[in-house]
Amino acid sequence: MAILAKNLCRMLNCFAQPPEIRHRHHDAQPQPLHPPLFDNLIRNTAKRDDPTRGLQLFLRDPAHSRAGRAIDLGAGGGRDSHALVCKGWQVMAIDPSPSAAAALRKRKLKGVTVVAGVLQDARARTNSIDLVNAQWVMPFIQGNELEKTIKEVARILRPGGYFCASFFGTEHSWNDGRHPRMTFHDEQAVNELLHAAGLATGRTERHAKSRKAGNGEMVPNWDEILVLARKPESTRRSSISGLAQRLRAAAEVAARNMRIPASAGDSVQPRRHRATKEMTPG
Ligand SMILES: C[S@@+](CC[C@H](N)C(=O)[O-])C[C@H]1O[C@@H](n2cnc3c(N)ncnc32)[C@H](O)[C@@H]1O
Repeated sequence: MAILAKNLCRMLNCFAQPPEIRHRHHDAQPQPLHPPLFDNLIRNTAKRDDPTRGLQLFLRDPAHSRAGRAIDLGAGGGRDSHALVCKGWQVMAIDPSPSAAAALRKRKLKGVTVVAGVLQDARARTNSIDLVNAQWVMPFIQGNELEKTIKEVARILRPGGYFCASFFGTEHSWNDGRHPRMTFHDEQAVNELLHAAGLATGRTERHAKSRKAGNGEMVPNWDEILVLARKPESTRRSSISGLAQRLRAAAEVAARNMRIPASAGDSVQPRRHRATKEMTPG
């Protein structure tokens, strides 16, 4: 009964959303996108050229000076897209909000293609993108759409490519039960999400301070986790080393269960039952 009621509410909520703020991707769940919050932020940032702190950290590192193909996910007013093209990157700016798409097009940034939609709408080829930048967008992607989006990031990144993103931490003032459309994670949960998609985590920065949000609201504790993750260089090499690691671990278990030979010439007698049991995968 409760499940039936929940599904009915979900359906009614879905119909209550104006069509332009629904996800366009087929499998995606319709999601409300906080239009007033985003519209203010988009308006306020549509003329800004300075990158967000997360992207600043990425661009500042000399190891990332070679430009390539980037996706700016949830590009909003385009401040990060602007910063990226200025550094020679080719950018696909993606955002499902019509105001963002309009602001991005109005900027007429050379080297920026605008896609009105979610990441899956970009239809990027596997292993084709050098950087996915997602600042202040991951907290607004809910439920299993978040996992799906990160998996899509992992698919389209080239081996060695970067995922530069920000998440809201669990200490964020908005994690007060009154913002059910936002998601909050601690560092471990963020890492688990990234690892589950096959990304390797590198630098993580967490900071909490008071700041003004895009809608003008003063937020006393803006707890944010900035991450830089990477798709492993060679999936083949890493799966071989993963297999080697698993074999080594299994061999160690087997060795522990074997009788220690009295002399070097003695044959080693495995304790068959236990060794076989522990070495059986799964
Ligand atoms: C807080 S704004 C951040 C904009 C920009 N990244 C910045 O830092 O200035 C969040 C943006 O994410 C977009 N957004 C919300 N859900 C999204 C989704 N599932 N995929 C891509 N973008 C999304 C919103 O439309 C909005 O423009």
